[in-house]
Amino acid sequence: MQIIIGADHGGYKLKEYLKKQISGLEDIGAYSEQKQDDYSDIAKKAAKIIQKNKNKRAILICGTGTGMCIEANRFKGVRAVLVYDQYSAVMSRKDNDANIICLRGRKFDRTKAKKLVKLWLKQEFSGKARHKRRIRKLDR
Ligand code: RB5
Repeated sequence: MQIIIGADHGGYKLKEYLKKQISGLEDIGAYSEQKQDDYSDIAKKAAKIIQKNKNKRAILICGTGTGMCIEANRFKGVRAVLVYDQYSAVMSRKDNDANIICLRGRKFDRTKAKKLVKLWLKQEFSGKARHKRRIRKLDR
């Protein structure tokens, strides 16, 4: 599975940390910590990649995680989730088949963030009929 990672200035430091901790992440920017890097642009870039590649997943980080999540979910087929604990990491994969994890870059422990990403990445979608039905409705 290919995993892309992106961040605005609010998530830049955590992105750089995660790249060192988790091998094989493909960095889609921002490539430096600058105030003019907006979460809207990075989330859009990631969402378009995910739309074209069903086997890819993305990690998106901004100050709160929410801006990235809002923007990414505007793209059909994208299921971006804000993950903040183990339960949200596990259930967003099992029930929602989430393909983008959004994280808070500010006021969030980076070791916890790393553990949550690793946990999220190894979860499988349950494939249950009721969850497939609900996901289909999201894309209508
Ligand atoms: C940028 O300062 C901040 O607004 C952004 O990173 C994010 O938290 C928005 O949701």
